[in-house]
Amino acid sequence: MWSIFLVFLVQPLCIQSTTCPSSCNCNQMGDVTCKGSITDVPIGLPANTSRLQLVATNMTVLNSQSLAMLPLMLRFSIKHSALVAIHPNAFQVAPQLLSVKLSFNALHSLPPRVFRHLVSLDQLHLDNNHLESISPVQFEGLANLTELDVSNNAITHLAPGVFRSLRRLVFLNLGRNFLQQLTPNVFHSLRQLESLMVFNNRLQALEPGAFDDLPNLCQLTLHNNQIARIPPKLFWALRKLQVLTLSSNKLQGFPEKSFYHLPKLTKLTIYKNPLLSLTDKLMGHMPMMEEFYLFATNLTTVPGNLFANMSRIERLYLHFNNKLAELPPDLFCCLPKLQRLSLKYNDIQDVHHDLFSKLANMIALFLNDNQLCNLPGDIFKGNPGLKSIDLRNNQLKVLPGEVFSAAWALRNVSLSGNPWDCGCDIRDIAHWIRRNEDVVIDGADVTCSNPPTFLRRPLKSLHHNEFDCDHAMNVSQATASFTGSFHVSTTTESPALRETQTVEIIPTTSVRVATSPQKTEASSKDRFTTRVFRHTSTDPPTAYILDFPKDEQPSGDYFLSQPFHDWLVIENGPEFVHNNRLTGWVYLWTLSTNQTYTGFLMALHILLLAAGVALILAAMYGMYRLNQAMDDLRAKLTNRKHNITSKKANRPR
Ligand SMILES: *[C@@H]1O[C@H](CO)[C@@H](O)[C@H](O)[C@H]1NC(C)=O
Ligand SMILES: *[C@@H]1O[C@H](CO)[C@@H](O)[C@H](O)[C@H]1NC(C)=O
Ligand SMILES: *[C@@H]1O[C@H](CO)[C@@H](O)[C@H](O)[C@H]1NC(C)=O
Ligand SMILES: *[C@@H]1O[C@H](CO)[C@@H](O)[C@H](O)[C@H]1NC(C)=O
Ligand SMILES: *[C@@H]1O[C@H](CO)[C@@H](O)[C@H](O)[C@H]1NC(C)=O
Ligand SMILES: *[C@@H]1O[C@H](CO)[C@@H](O)[C@H](O)[C@H]1NC(C)=O
Ligand SMILES: *[C@@H]1O[C@H](CO)[C@@H](O)[C@H](O)[C@H]1NC(C)=O
Repeated sequence: MWSIFLVFLVQPLCIQSTTCPSSCNCNQMGDVTCKGSITDVPIGLPANTSRLQLVATNMTVLNSQSLAMLPLMLRFSIKHSALVAIHPNAFQVAPQLLSVKLSFNALHSLPPRVFRHLVSLDQLHLDNNHLESISPVQFEGLANLTELDVSNNAITHLAPGVFRSLRRLVFLNLGRNFLQQLTPNVFHSLRQLESLMVFNNRLQALEPGAFDDLPNLCQLTLHNNQIARIPPKLFWALRKLQVLTLSSNKLQGFPEKSFYHLPKLTKLTIYKNPLLSLTDKLMGHMPMMEEFYLFATNLTTVPGNLFANMSRIERLYLHFNNKLAELPPDLFCCLPKLQRLSLKYNDIQDVHHDLFSKLANMIALFLNDNQLCNLPGDIFKGNPGLKSIDLRNNQLKVLPGEVFSAAWALRNVSLSGNPWDCGCDIRDIAHWIRRNEDVVIDGADVTCSNPPTFLRRPLKSLHHNEFDCDHAMNVSQATASFTGSFHVSTTTESPALRETQTVEIIPTTSVRVATSPQKTEASSKDRFTTRVFRHTSTDPPTAYILDFPKDEQPSGDYFLSQPFHDWLVIENGPEFVHNNRLTGWVYLWTLSTNQTYTGFLMALHILLLAAGVALILAAMYGMYRLNQAMDDLRAKLTNRKHNITSKKANRPR
């Protein structure tokens, strides 16, 4: 009795192991995988095999009877084998098949009607073979096919109507072939199609209306072709399109409104095209757009509204356009979610001070490897969350001292690879670098290129008193052209310096500074133009940098403890200049020459001077007259005394 029980227990295991051939792996679910040097489908496979995969075998031919005796098999594949031929009736014995995968073989051609019996076929993969053509009747009868992959073959041409029967096709991969053109209407019955891949072919042109019958298309990949032109409205029927790739083609531009009516688009690539210009009516409403890449083009600028309809973008890569020199000020106007912006390896020389002002959520900015000579002092005013700025490998000689002051969250700045000019102008930013050594991550490589005495000195090692600012003072010029105004800039943060200072130009010497105790409110001078001058590095020919000669420095207390670091720029402009300090700034309020106040004040001044002189003269005259009167009086008194004395003496006793 025990032995019978054992036999029952063991027998099923024995039967199963004997029905799985030695080169195969069979499991309970009906999955069979065979490998090795088999040359045909092994005999004796489990009768209930539902999925058979032959991988890396020596099979070269699929015979008419290879698939017989497997009535339950639904999925069949031969991959990475040397299959070169298929018998025209190879699938006649297995009409129940749902999948046929013949990928990675050596097929050069297929019998024209080889799949005609596979009326239920759902999935057909012929990719990675050497197919040169597809018969017009190759897919005839495959009414249930949803997935067709013929990628990575050598197909040069699609016969008209080749996909005519495939009314349920959802996925069609034609990528990596040698197609030079798309036959007109070749896709016109594919109304269920969701993915169409035609990347890596040799397409040169696209027919107008080529995609008009694909209302369900979500993905269209056309990258890596030689498309030089696209017809107008080519994509307008694709209301469900989410991904469109046009990168690596020969496009020099797009017709107007090319990307209109694509409200579902999340990814668009047009990079690696020799684009020369983009029309300012290009991008329609794209509220879902998430990825947009634009690099390796010949663009010199882009339209200001290029990204205006892509309000959802979080990452934007507009870089490696080695001719892109100009960015419109409003280019990033409408990207409230943008977090990472890469503008590196372009040819940008200038940025408008409002360029980034609307990017309130920007975290990382890459501006490295451009031609920037300077940045506006308030360039980062709208980016409080900016953590990382890369400015390496530009032409920066100097930066405004306050340029990073609005970016509170800054943790990571790179500044190396720039020809820093360690003259007077750089003191403020050098000071900032010194104080933020942990933020400037490449501080040791942020070195001077000029003057020669400072060559390769790190900016952070330069101290205030090392800057040679004496030569900046050009006295003869300053005196000769003193009909101008001052621009005073400072970053000196000593609270003591916030008192009003009167700056007085004395032609023969240079500049003398006196402090007066009362504070001046710049804002109260409403009749005067009030301006805040920010440190600019542009050196207009009429501007001269002045500094205070050491022997002329007043010896007030704070001058002993802290050197004076202001500089003046004299330019054409108003004659009357007043300044006031507030939190490290110098506010200037000036009276410009074209106003009548000048004349009025001048007249007043002269009048007061004249009055003063007259008063002094009057006082002196008064003194003189008083003196005379006193002398007279004294003389009279002396006479009188004398008379009295003589009278007393002459009086009879
Ligand atoms: C296939 O047959 C074997 C033995 O005949 C059995 O153990 C297995 O469960 C069957 N598999 C399926 C999917 O029916
Ligand atoms: C199978 O193919 C491999 C390499 O392609 C070869 O080395 C081997 O000899 C072949 N085996 C048979 C039985 O043909
Ligand atoms: C095609 O697929 C549909 C649904 O998927 C199914 O009802 C129909 O029987 C299939 N046709 C054939 C010939 O297998
Ligand atoms: C945004 O899309 C709408 C709708 O397609 C279009 O009318 C408008 O001109 C686009 N805006 C810009 C700035 O391109
Ligand atoms: C684009 O630029 C490349 C190199 O920068 C140049 O070879 C090519 O001719 C340019 N294409 C056009 C259309 O200007
Ligand atoms: C600074 O930023 C660069 C570029 O984003 C990054 O590679 C680097 O790791 C960052 N360094 C630190 C210390 O955050
Ligand atoms: C002052 O500037 C003029 C013109 O730039 C220059 O020729 C002259 O040498 C300068 N003088 C001094 C003392 O630097």
